[in-house]
Amino acid sequence: MKNLSKKLVIGNWKMNLNYKDSISLGKKIQQSLKGKKNSNEVVLLPDFLSLAELKKSVKNKNIYWGAQDVSPFPLGAFTGEVALDSLKQISIKYVLIGHSERRQKFFDNSLVASKMKNVLENSDIIPILCVGETLAEKEANKTWSVISSQIKEAFSEIKTLKNKKIVIAYEPVWAIGTGRVVEVSDAVAVHKKIRQFIKETFTKNSPSELGVIYGGSVDLKKYSSFCKLEDVSGLLIGGASLKANDFSKIAINF
Ligand code: PGA
Repeated sequence: MKNLSKKLVIGNWKMNLNYKDSISLGKKIQQSLKGKKNSNEVVLLPDFLSLAELKKSVKNKNIYWGAQDVSPFPLGAFTGEVALDSLKQISIKYVLIGHSERRQKFFDNSLVASKMKNVLENSDIIPILCVGETLAEKEANKTWSVISSQIKEAFSEIKTLKNKKIVIAYEPVWAIGTGRVVEVSDAVAVHKKIRQFIKETFTKNSPSELGVIYGGSVDLKKYSSFCKLEDVSGLLIGGASLKANDFSKIAINF
């Protein structure tokens, strides 16, 4: 089970921008990355509507696209959902699953396993599974027990990860959008445990590549402490990904 060949720098725009502003941000990021040498892989996660348009109109071989969520169901009578089939047709590379905002505000905990199964069994889209503990759980020393049970649950409907690429994002809930960043050594310790856990759980059926990335209040000032660490395969950036120049600097220099 190898690490990812390139480091990932992912911008999660959430629902911060409307359609027009999303298109404009995508174009600005394209401009600021244009012609720059970059050994990292840059990924943008706009809302569904903007994703379809940006995927068509922003052509930059260094920018990859992903969705912020996916339905656990196949095509059918599921009002308001967006199907995996549609994501496959627009050829995106990644899909976020189980972000803490979805878990907390949209009761997604119980859907994470079926979303993972849908994506892994029916597509080559790479899932980015988000896990992380709340402040109360951290203070009660439950960080690892929470994360390990989230991972166990997420993969509970999957028998093999053979030949799959998987990304797991460690995002402490208390660090998301709060300006509070984890101690790098604490994050590294969690990342190592995640890798070990996947290895032990899947043994011979481990994924071909596993990336473990960090997210939570990473910005232009703080990103550098996560650079050049073997156990940090990349960054998942929310707020700071809405500023084209800041995000592009991180994307190039990480
Ligand atoms: P933040 O968001 O960088 O604004 O903390 C990260 C995320 O939620 O993915």
